[in-house]
Amino acid sequence: MDVLRITGSQPLEGTITASGAKNACLPIFAATLLTGETCVIENAPDLSDVRFMGKLLEALGAEVERPAPNTWRITAKEIAHRAPYDLVRKMRASVCLLGPLVARMKQAEVSLPGGCVIGPRPIDLHLKGLSKLGCEVEVKNGYVFVDAKNAHGGHVFLGGRHGSTVTGTANLVMAAVMTPGITRIESAACEPEVVDLCKMLLSMGAKIDGVGSHALTIEGVERLGGTTFRVINDRIEAGSFLLAAAMTESNVRVEGAEAEHLAALLDKLEEAGLDYSIESADAIRVRGKPGSLKPVDIITLPHPGYPTDVQAQMCTLMSMTPGLSIITERIYPNRFMHVPELQRMGADIAIEGASAIIKGKSSPLSGAPVMASDLRASAALVLAGLAATGDTWVQRIYHLDRGYEKLDEKLRGLGAKVERLPDSEMPKDEDTAA
Ligand code: EPZ
Repeated sequence: MDVLRITGSQPLEGTITASGAKNACLPIFAATLLTGETCVIENAPDLSDVRFMGKLLEALGAEVERPAPNTWRITAKEIAHRAPYDLVRKMRASVCLLGPLVARMKQAEVSLPGGCVIGPRPIDLHLKGLSKLGCEVEVKNGYVFVDAKNAHGGHVFLGGRHGSTVTGTANLVMAAVMTPGITRIESAACEPEVVDLCKMLLSMGAKIDGVGSHALTIEGVERLGGTTFRVINDRIEAGSFLLAAAMTESNVRVEGAEAEHLAALLDKLEEAGLDYSIESADAIRVRGKPGSLKPVDIITLPHPGYPTDVQAQMCTLMSMTPGLSIITERIYPNRFMHVPELQRMGADIAIEGASAIIKGKSSPLSGAPVMASDLRASAALVLAGLAATGDTWVQRIYHLDRGYEKLDEKLRGLGAKVERLPDSEMPKDEDTAA
């Protein structure tokens, strides 16, 4: 397995660009199952999760080609309605196959997704929504069986104890676009990635009103056509780059950073006193100065609230911002796997329930060997390494490869000292003790 060696405290300078959005691309790939015509998806990030979704579509019978690294051509002429356990269990987002299979095949058999380190990942709201469309839903032997022969439009309230559900909304919209009748979804998720999926469906001939709001109205149509669609840039990756610049001596332009998709993060960075400027519709410049910020309190919420996917990265920034910050997770209350690793680097953070109480220091963190645990926690550790003194060795970086395209290469483009090495290169304990 590979590790990243990061030699910290390097000033960062130049331009870094966010790739296509993973969390838009995955449901958009699933949506290609809704038609037998060809769909061309552009600006798809070259990530292990995206390649895996491509494999899943092929396993269902779709013809999948990659005319270029970030362009996919998918034709789902004849497909099966059963998504196998040995594939689905490897990636939670595979649950997005449910909606299109129900719409196209009027039946679906999809393995229940596993949980993951950030917490239980239930799909009760997905199944409630399908039932409201008149589907017969049964969970048996680790699979969800859906019979949609008599499906019809319905009225669904999709909110749960943690608010709206992103992939739940994606699934329900993809089921409803080819289900006869009118479907109304209240408390729908309105993340930019959900909006992007709806725009792709509209380009295929779907009838959806209220896109971008928490209330969607969908009129089912007989069939959908193929399309050529460009995935939006990844606001979470862009936000991670903004935070990397905020915690280092830097003058960095982040491209693919659409300010309207990052309003909650930018609001908090402004409150913290970060020197940044919006240079165009999708470019933001950051002039970072370590220790110059003020602490902020954050509560993660569904969009347009503060995104849970940039919570870990903000913990890193606040651990080196003098003063007391409280970061509370309302989406995944246990999403603090990055904290023990940041503590290894000298961060002073206490977890109280769903909150991280952070006593930020003016002195920088110190580099150390740390363990990645999930996608965004890994990013938080890479950022910490960039700002820390000495070397940080981030292990299990396959987590990073799921959601950040060529991260080490992009950071080197800013002058960061980041190397991807085989884990055999890691110093043995006795070396570091010396
Ligand atoms: C999507 O996951 C993203 N993944 C996650 O990004 C992101 O953190 C999350 O939305 C929240 O923004 C993809 O889009 C592939 P949810 P999703 O359904 O759809 C509860 C990353 O790092 N819930 O919006 O699975 C759930 O437990 C990943 O890129 C139910 O209770 O999240 C959670 O507490 C991590 N019942 C909350 O709702 C349900 O049926 C939000 O979950 C569904 C969800």
